[in-house]
Amino acid sequence: MNTTLITGASSGIGEAFARRFAALGRNVLLVARSEDKLVSLCNELGRINSIRAQYVAMDLSKSDSPARLFEETEKRGLVIDMLINNAGFGSMGEFANLDLARELEMIDLNVKALVDLTYRFLLPMRARKHGTIINVASTAGFQPVPFMATYAATKAFVLCLSEALWEENRPHGVHVMALCPGVTDTNFFEAAQIEMPPMRSSQSPEDVVDTALRGLARGKSHIVSGWTNLLMIESERLVPRSFVARIAGRALRPHFGDGDKDTSVGKEAKDK
Ligand SMILES: NC(=O)c1ccc[n+]([C@@H]2O[C@H](COP(=O)([O-])OP(=O)(O)OC[C@H]3O[C@@H](n4cnc5c(N)ncnc54)[C@H](OP(=O)(O)O)[C@@H]3O)[C@@H](O)[C@H]2O)c1
Repeated sequence: MNTTLITGASSGIGEAFARRFAALGRNVLLVARSEDKLVSLCNELGRINSIRAQYVAMDLSKSDSPARLFEETEKRGLVIDMLINNAGFGSMGEFANLDLARELEMIDLNVKALVDLTYRFLLPMRARKHGTIINVASTAGFQPVPFMATYAATKAFVLCLSEALWEENRPHGVHVMALCPGVTDTNFFEAAQIEMPPMRSSQSPEDVVDTALRGLARGKSHIVSGWTNLLMIESERLVPRSFVARIAGRALRPHFGDGDKDTSVGKEAKDK
């Protein structure tokens, strides 16, 4: 049974992907940790659309999770012809003040699990000469972002990996694309235990999914969501990267710099 696998589908952009693809008549397999949310979303999607909506509740930051998820799809007889690697989280604050375990967990989820799942599901897609992989990166992946250093670096990895895999897999009938949202109105900032940045307009998760569908239709290697975000990224190419880092640092230091309002997870962990 052809199925779209969406990680991080219990809220935000992943949930919007699930709703959209279910509405388009695609079977979905939803993955996240919050089983209650996945159960009610699957029930709703299965009832409204004539599709099969299933879930697997798991923590993808655990090293054996991607392998277990792959085996589970085989056991259920699912043909995953579309994989959306969307699960991810961020942190903000001075790198030296953040909780190291949490930073490493971020790399495990945003990078390691994404590579693992991409590899495992890519092989059968290539064998079938058909498939789509959307890796959710971020506008943060285009430049260094002080006070979001690890997060931005994980997204730079996702962007770079996806663009390379786009080229490698074109002759094999598999479309790999990085989706780069800017600030989006989801639980992302709550999950990172930080306030939403005050200075930028945000998009809805549905806007981001619209962008992804446009990117797929055009066969893009990556796509940035939102014209203002695209404009910002294009203009950054014209100046030295150190200048971009300094400007970003200047904007974020008052919110997340040492000695100022530090709402990072690491600060809380250190205070315990
Ligand atoms: N919101 C933004 O401004 C923004 C901008 C650019 C890029 N992004 C990227 O967009 C993606 C989706 O984020 P979002 O904005 O939609 O935030 P969100 O609402 O917090 O969604 C994150 C999703 O990931 C799941 N998740 C988190 N940790 C997980 C784990 N260890 N194992 C399995 N699932 C896990 C969450 O579900 P559970 O908690 O139930 O596990 C949730 O479904 C992320 O990769 C994020 O980096 C977001």
